[in-house]
Amino acid sequence: MNCKSITITFKEYYYNEGLTDKDKELLDRAVEATKNSYAPYSKFNVGAAVRLANGEIISAGNQENAAYPSGLCAERVALFYANSRFPDVPVESLAVTAAVDGHVCESPTYPCGACRQVLAETELRAKNPIRIIIGSEKVTQVVDNVGSLLPFTFDNLPK
Ligand code: THU
Repeated sequence: MNCKSITITFKEYYYNEGLTDKDKELLDRAVEATKNSYAPYSKFNVGAAVRLANGEIISAGNQENAAYPSGLCAERVALFYANSRFPDVPVESLAVTAAVDGHVCESPTYPCGACRQVLAETELRAKNPIRIIIGSEKVTQVVDNVGSLLPFTFDNLPK
């Protein structure tokens, strides 16, 4: 038996001090996108913004439905739309944040497992690391690739 471990590294910024202007802009777009969220059931307004290698920024809010499983997280709405419009353009970074009653949440909102899997495949498809910027009222955390959020990604279908 071997006992192995995985270490992840992330950067933490308080009140966005030290964050690059590009990342601040992306986070601002994610905050803005919380206002376009349709979340009458959870009342949890998530916003995501994707920066593409061609300079485009695509943002989206979570979209819910009375048939609950029919809704979709903000990250996947943004990623699928980005991949539909620009299928050959790598995603450089994704910012995500959430708001309740119009106020950005105090603690970070991390992408759910399904969004991590979609992020992982988007990264693999373009062979380009995706930085993930997770914002909250006070603290912003940044990981440099999807593997830091989802080690042991499912990618095992016969090629
Ligand atoms: N949600 C997201 O948009 N992104 C996440 O990473 C986690 C959860 C949404 C789904 C649902 O509309 C609401 O937040 C409550 O779970």
